[in-house]
Amino acid sequence: MGWLYEHAVKRAFFRLDPEHAHEIAVNGLARLGGVRPLCALLERVHRLDPAQHRPVEAFGLKFPNAVGLAAGFDKNGRAWPAAAALGFGHVEIGTVTFHAQPGNPRPRAFRYPAEQAVINRMGFNNEGAAALAAHLAKFSGPRSIPLGINLGKSKVTSLDQATGDYLGSFRLLADHGDYIAVNVSSPNTPGLRELQDASWLKPLLAALVEENKVRVGAGKPRRPLLLKIAPDLTFPQIDAALQAGARTDWTEETWVPSRDQAYLGVLVDDLITKGVSEPYRMFTSRAEFRLQLREDNADLRLTEVARQLGLVDDARWTAFCRKRDAVSRETERLRSIWVSPKNLAAAESVRVLGKAIDHEYNLADLLRRPDVSYPQLMSLDAGKYAEPELMRDSASQAESVTDPEASFAQSVIEQVEIAAKYSGYIDRQRDEVSRAAYYEYLRLPEELDYMQVSALSIEARQKLNRHRPETLGLASRISGITPATISLLLIHLKRSNFKQFSDPGKADLSEAGEG
Ligand SMILES: Cc1cc2nc3c(=O)[nH]c(=O)nc-3n(C[C@H](O)[C@H](O)[C@H](O)COP(=O)(O)O)c2cc1C
Repeated sequence: MGWLYEHAVKRAFFRLDPEHAHEIAVNGLARLGGVRPLCALLERVHRLDPAQHRPVEAFGLKFPNAVGLAAGFDKNGRAWPAAAALGFGHVEIGTVTFHAQPGNPRPRAFRYPAEQAVINRMGFNNEGAAALAAHLAKFSGPRSIPLGINLGKSKVTSLDQATGDYLGSFRLLADHGDYIAVNVSSPNTPGLRELQDASWLKPLLAALVEENKVRVGAGKPRRPLLLKIAPDLTFPQIDAALQAGARTDWTEETWVPSRDQAYLGVLVDDLITKGVSEPYRMFTSRAEFRLQLREDNADLRLTEVARQLGLVDDARWTAFCRKRDAVSRETERLRSIWVSPKNLAAAESVRVLGKAIDHEYNLADLLRRPDVSYPQLMSLDAGKYAEPELMRDSASQAESVTDPEASFAQSVIEQVEIAAKYSGYIDRQRDEVSRAAYYEYLRLPEELDYMQVSALSIEARQKLNRHRPETLGLASRISGITPATISLLLIHLKRSNFKQFSDPGKADLSEAGEG
């Protein structure tokens, strides 16, 4: 195979324009990927001996070998299903940007055979995150090697809107890959490399980490976030980028629960920012994200963190993953089953739903109705839509105490039902959490002299000066600091041209007044 490549394939390709050769290779692999049995055969032929090519386990993923197909080859996710057949240990598709974009004018890829080099000035040509998500949604089932998705900033998006741009792509694509690479390294998108600066990087990573937590809260797996930085950063610059990442992600040494993650986070944060003048009692009303902080989803919220901290053994982790996956499978299944007056008799509809349905609904929509329970729904048409794995729930409560499978089914059903019933509220709160994340980690300038911010009351200036909060989120929780104070502070920072605060779209500040 190596000989054939060196003496025939490579020579033929080198006669072509580099980008054309690239396109032929991508199309060829896309076709190969469509022939599953041939891929499986080639994969067996090319599988490297694990004894010689040590498999790698990193950030919770297993890589059969250390050589992967890097981002840039398969920008639109067409060729990746064939990567394992070529022997690769993982594949990273993209770079994909939130907006579809044509990239730089051609020619934009240059080959230098004597130097054994390629110069790439492609400029993130790709069909956009939504198109990639739609394409990837067609693939289901397990993958033999990890699939990474590399995200970049759209060219039309200004630097101060970059966080939203990456966040948009992350939301569309996180379900479809095993890890997400955040690319701030390309020299071909104007300004992109500035995102490597800690002042940009920190809010960007914080927002993505926050979104990951929201996923976990919603019963979805946390996606490992990797950062792709330029190879020519100086060591101090690399250090600063690492610091920006370390402060926002979970590390083994430190875990500070955030307010939307656990009541413990609310308690610690309140005590630190507000201080105590009287005994502190933990009321649920102190937590602004209390819809998310439920007892029934504590495992879905926190087991992944606990596993990272080494507190969850393999047996518990396996049980947790089984439940998490069953919840998301069942939710998807309910969303995919449609009933309409054509396939559901009016009498049956009245029996279960209280009245005849007048148009098409999926079962997840019907489960949102307050008076419809999961067992009732599954009794439709003599149990036609029931899921056998979860049928045991119809057994009595008493049985679930002694039968672990019945209690498993019951816990899955409970989550599916709660998520459906409260989905509207939970989604709204999820958006609030994401929005709040932007401000939460916005760093306040160290040199800021609050006493000079004349728009603020003397009391607010004194408090801010005394506490000197690190971030806007911390400032907003100092007792006596009102949302209006925060708005006025933002206006001041914006007018004084402090970096990161110069975007008028981030908050409507014009109406703010100190209350
Ligand atoms: C033609 C070409 C296009 C590339 N496009 C991307 C890209 O879209 N996103 C990205 O993160 N890296 C891109 N890269 C960089 C590669 O992913 C990789 O980091 C780089 O080639 C260094 O790895 P190597 O030394 O194995 O070649 C591209 C590289 C080439 C040659």
